[in-house]
Amino acid sequence: MALRARAAPVGLPASQWGRGGVPEQENLMRRLLLEGMNRYARISGRDSIWVSAAVARVERRVDEMLGGAAERALTYRMRRRLPPIIDAASGAPLSETDRYWRKHTVRGRTFLSRQASLDYIAELTDGRPLKRELLRLHGPHEGKCILDFGCGPGNDLAGFAEFSGAALVIGVDVSPKALDLARRRVSWHVRDPRRVAFIRIADGQVRLPLENASVDYIQSLGVIHHASDPTAILREFHRLLKPGAEARIMVYNADSVHVQLEVGYIWRLVNGAMKDKSPEAAFSATADLGAPIAHCLRPADVAGWLEGVPFDLEYLGGFFVPGEASGWQEKRDRALADSRLGDHQRSFLAGLEIGAQGLPYHRGKPAGLGAVYVLSKRSGWRLAP
Ligand SMILES: C[S@@+](CC[C@H](N)C(=O)[O-])C[C@H]1O[C@@H](n2cnc3c(N)ncnc32)[C@H](O)[C@@H]1O
Repeated sequence: MALRARAAPVGLPASQWGRGGVPEQENLMRRLLLEGMNRYARISGRDSIWVSAAVARVERRVDEMLGGAAERALTYRMRRRLPPIIDAASGAPLSETDRYWRKHTVRGRTFLSRQASLDYIAELTDGRPLKRELLRLHGPHEGKCILDFGCGPGNDLAGFAEFSGAALVIGVDVSPKALDLARRRVSWHVRDPRRVAFIRIADGQVRLPLENASVDYIQSLGVIHHASDPTAILREFHRLLKPGAEARIMVYNADSVHVQLEVGYIWRLVNGAMKDKSPEAAFSATADLGAPIAHCLRPADVAGWLEGVPFDLEYLGGFFVPGEASGWQEKRDRALADSRLGDHQRSFLAGLEIGAQGLPYHRGKPAGLGAVYVLSKRSGWRLAP
């Protein structure tokens, strides 16, 4: 069958289409429904954001019908033991970002066993070349306190709970529904309820009810590029981390194969979609089903967020979303032969080299969509430069 759930008729990062490994009947049902949506999209000429949102709605419904109820029943007893979600944002006004993410919860799949959850952790990490390495997933963080900022439905919380050896794993998000899903998910992986905590914040209220210098490690994947005030978040990370500790964040990478080659060339110039936008603007307009804010960035942009926040910043390069690196040389050569290419796009594509595992590198760093930065909190005193 031609249709693949992850190859929806729009160029979303495949992380948003995380499914697979589900029972055969469920797979078949999904395929039929998604095929129907694709067919309708072709006939109706709907735009990509509308189609993406509609497909996501159908997928969510399928989840509820096929597995949600069973999963809820299966995890009920385990969840009852887990701590409730702490509301650190009650009364805070909701921004457009809050409202968007409360409505568009990133749904993982339905998990009817701990093994199914483990399989999905493996798929989400090993299915994205260099993700495990750049993020050092999932530890070890033996006996430590770690925090996943923007934890979504808990994919990494589950991994941390299972593999990191952390004494405490904290999930933070603006979406109550995501936190509820995360709680359900994590319940497959923790026996001691004192090992986890869940906190709701708001886009405009990022202060967490945690002591200064109380956290050993912070991870935040695919979150800060959606926030109204990234500097406020990084300032809060700095307050929370112990001296010498680090945060690893992933934000969308403007100089990536996905943005410059797939969106910038294939979508815009080959398929003729969003021709009037730059590759970066075309990506941002469609990322995450049309989230109100979805920046794609370069190291200088992230350094700009650090205004007055004394972290040391290191850019490690970007890991690759599924399919991003396949056939990249052939597509790149085709793009370079096209006179319509913009100057920046041309120089980025011409500068790609073959790196580890045959993956595309740029200036010595992997050029995937998931740009990983290490923010290290300085320990001790330093002379001003
Ligand atoms: C694309 S998902 C990533 C989820 C998870 N980190 C992962 O990698 O699977 C983005 C998540 O960030 C949350 N989010 C968006 N804006 C946020 C903000 N300003 N502060 C905290 N979380 C936010 C959303 O609710 C959503 O769960």
